[in-house]
Amino acid sequence: MTQDELKQAVAQAAADYVAEHAPAGSVIGVGTGSTANFFIDALAPLKGRYRGAIASSEATRQRLEGHGIAVLDLNEVERIPVYVDGADEIDGGLNMIQGGGGALTREKIVAAVATTFVCIADGSKQVATLGKFPLPVEVIPMARAHVARELAKLGGRPMLREGFVTDNGNLILDVHDLAISNPKGLEAQINQIVGVVTNGLFAIRPADVLLLGTAAGVRRFG
Ligand code: A5P
Repeated sequence: MTQDELKQAVAQAAADYVAEHAPAGSVIGVGTGSTANFFIDALAPLKGRYRGAIASSEATRQRLEGHGIAVLDLNEVERIPVYVDGADEIDGGLNMIQGGGGALTREKIVAAVATTFVCIADGSKQVATLGKFPLPVEVIPMARAHVARELAKLGGRPMLREGFVTDNGNLILDVHDLAISNPKGLEAQINQIVGVVTNGLFAIRPADVLLLGTAAGVRRFG
């Protein structure tokens, strides 16, 4: 199977999960990225059953609306029973690195509201220790150099993502060379740096369920 076929298989499994677990009339949280895009396509046939979706990025909003799925304002929504998103890396504790696409802040906000976070990933995303994928950190532009210096003190090698501005008007520092032995601790520590909006570690609020695409089929964890 190609990587896209694996992504499509987990996306369909996530749509089946939603159909089974999200009550009719509820609101579905939708992540960002190529795997999430396949999920949006798989969700489209179910759209009549749900009130609408919360989009974790402008790109996701456009794709949802392209399928005629209503996109709601999160401030008008109290409950999201299921949030489905991809990941850049995921470990055995279902801790993740997110934000390769730069949507980490909105993704983390939607995840915070969701009851169940379903991560969909092909097997290449599963790792023993997080950190080979550079950790994205969203920063307020005037704090870029300060945050970079502080991240270097933590042992990382921050690189500005050139020519990229987030949906929130901020910058991304991609932090290389971190061996993340304590994901929750590092997530909290980076959040304390003044000027950081969000970091791409999802460990304080990890996934609840992982649907992993493998050559032998979709495996479920959690
Ligand atoms: C978006 O900012 C990211 O968190 C994506 O969810 C993550 O990068 C996975 O993307 P792919 O499904 O494209 O690999």
